[in-house]
Amino acid sequence: MKKIIVANWKMNPAGLRQAQDIFNKIDSGVKVTANADVVICPPFPYLSLFKSSSLKFGAQNLFFEEKGAYTGEISPLMLKDLGVEYVILGHSERRKHFKESDDLVNKKMKAALKAGLKPILCVDKISQVEKGLKGVSGKKFMVAYEPLFAIGTGNPCSPEKAEKMRLAVEKKTGKGVPVLYGGSVNGKNALYYLKEAGFQGLLVGGASLKPEEFVDIVKSACYFA
Ligand code: PGA
Repeated sequence: MKKIIVANWKMNPAGLRQAQDIFNKIDSGVKVTANADVVICPPFPYLSLFKSSSLKFGAQNLFFEEKGAYTGEISPLMLKDLGVEYVILGHSERRKHFKESDDLVNKKMKAALKAGLKPILCVDKISQVEKGLKGVSGKKFMVAYEPLFAIGTGNPCSPEKAEKMRLAVEKKTGKGVPVLYGGSVNGKNALYYLKEAGFQGLLVGGASLKPEEFVDIVKSACYFA
């Protein structure tokens, strides 16, 4: 099955010129190795400006209502209308800094699916899978296992431990739901998660802002195609 590599740029970079530069380099770098789905999740202001014939787009968050008096929020319909296909939900940074509860993440999951977006539910423990998917039917979503100690630390999870979690997630979701690994993924370790630990994809933070390294990660994924 096709591997999925997701770039989570978080709140980076600080200017459009640099963002466009990183994007262009990734776009031309992955064109030759288009055997994986590569999803770029830039900050909202850049999302509608980037164009590509090979890359897909994702948002880093959304609000669960379709429209209305919710100052500062972005709705699933707005994203869908822009051609965005994916959305990262329940990222640990949102849970931590913006106090997002499992209940809120669950509402966002349902809203994303209703709008026809493919949500990527981020979890660092198995209870978050159950709570995030409560009442969710179908299999048009993904789960990303991102252990807290590994996010942005340069201290990735061992492939053995990550694989155990992948199997535990798959027990909950059943077959047909891609499970991704995230947390200090780089050009050197990407293959371990895709090959040894059997993940269907990767959620890449810091390394996705370094075009050469990110293209190397995508190449690791294409190794399986
Ligand atoms: P990292 O971030 O690759 O910088 O560890 C991953 C993430 O938070 O999605």
